[in-house]
Amino acid sequence: MQKKLFIKTWGCQMNTYDSGRMADVVAPLGYRATEVAADADLVIFNTCHIREKATEKLFSELGRLRPHQKEKADRGERMMIAVAGCVAQAEGPEIQRRAPYVDMIFGPQSYHQLPEMIARVSRGAGLILNTEFPAEPKFDALPDERVRSDVSAFLSIQEGCDKFCTFCVVPYTRGAEFSRPVASIVSEAEKLVQGGAREITLLGQNVNAFHGEGADGKIWGLGRLFRRLAEIPGLHRMRYMTSHPRDMDGELIAAHRDVPQLMPFLHLPVQSGSDAVLEAMNRKHSSDDYRRIVEKLRAARPDIALSSDFIVGFPGESDRDFQDTLKLVRDTGFAQAYSFKYSLRPGTPAAAMPNQVNEAVKDARLQELQQLIREQQEIFNANAIGRKIAVLFDRTGRRANQVHGRTPHMQAVHISGGDDLIGREIMVKIDSIGLNSLTGHLAA
Ligand code: 5AD
Ligand code: SF4
Repeated sequence: MQKKLFIKTWGCQMNTYDSGRMADVVAPLGYRATEVAADADLVIFNTCHIREKATEKLFSELGRLRPHQKEKADRGERMMIAVAGCVAQAEGPEIQRRAPYVDMIFGPQSYHQLPEMIARVSRGAGLILNTEFPAEPKFDALPDERVRSDVSAFLSIQEGCDKFCTFCVVPYTRGAEFSRPVASIVSEAEKLVQGGAREITLLGQNVNAFHGEGADGKIWGLGRLFRRLAEIPGLHRMRYMTSHPRDMDGELIAAHRDVPQLMPFLHLPVQSGSDAVLEAMNRKHSSDDYRRIVEKLRAARPDIALSSDFIVGFPGESDRDFQDTLKLVRDTGFAQAYSFKYSLRPGTPAAAMPNQVNEAVKDARLQELQQLIREQQEIFNANAIGRKIAVLFDRTGRRANQVHGRTPHMQAVHISGGDDLIGREIMVKIDSIGLNSLTGHLAA
């Protein structure tokens, strides 16, 4: 019997990937995706806890859904509601208290047990609260049958984080760092390519801390993994995120030099340009360490473009500190970057720091930083005008007869053209730019 599944995802690529895998594990039970939550048989909220008022957003969604769940019950049908992801992990009991009509609450380590949890709920087992970190990693138990893949697919190779940056909840919500064995990664990558993927982005909270067991029994780093994945025929592009500067080792930098499929674009969060702030953040690198890594990357792959994450208004951040961040941005030159106001996460060390920065200062700094980043992004994009660039087309555009693709540098490109372009990497002459997308025409 066909059942309707609605998933809403917040947060990072990792969550997007996890949502896809949750859909995969319940597909054999007859669940098919729907766009409407109101009459779904299973609703999953896959939550993110990293910034902002994630918990409040969740409760407002739950509140909106509750009447529909009741209506369905009046018709003798059932809507199961599940809360997954990092808010579930961190605030299970609170969710249970405030929304007792939720059927399942589980953290990122339990997705493979979803069919079993559904069965238990149907049998009337009551609320399922599953937020322990099991000893067994979740990767192995997920089914790896997947018939069709996206042209640009994600593959999760690493989970968790041992770095304990003082602002961040990830080490608490996602648990200790764990890497998947190389053989299972290679086999999933091969399946993705068979299913039509031409680009794979390797995912992990700390993806370049990857240290998976190879077929030879030795521990492989990410650089070595890329060399192996590059042997898969039909896999044209590879990327990875998110990386930590501390883990940019020589082997990985050399892979940027030697592996042509590894795209010349790297998201490498630095968070701040001030050494005092970096120290207080427990980042374990200085701003000059970051500059040196960028230098090495550019020596290895001169066309590499960089992206980053920044936090402004971390406790104790002075004007001087903030100026150091602006200077790092000017010195480095980013193709794009994300910046956030520091947001206090209860339970993290920075939450207890006395010298919290006031909101108005945070706002002003954020604006100034975003303005600078925007200028750099515009310069970077303007540089593409008039050039011929390889674009991998991955989906139809929003308008009729329009396709969407990406350059090696992750810039979105829209051109007029049909579905037949999807899955192909073709030279495009870039005619003009908007902030978020380039336009052009086929160069051939
Ligand atoms: N406040 C603001 N930004 C944060 N990030 C993580 N935790 C916080 C926080 N408490 C940002 C970091 C990280 C990105 C994913 O989110 O910049 O790299
Ligand atoms: Fe959070 Fe730092 Fe780990 Fe990144 S490296 S997930 S910011 S603790």
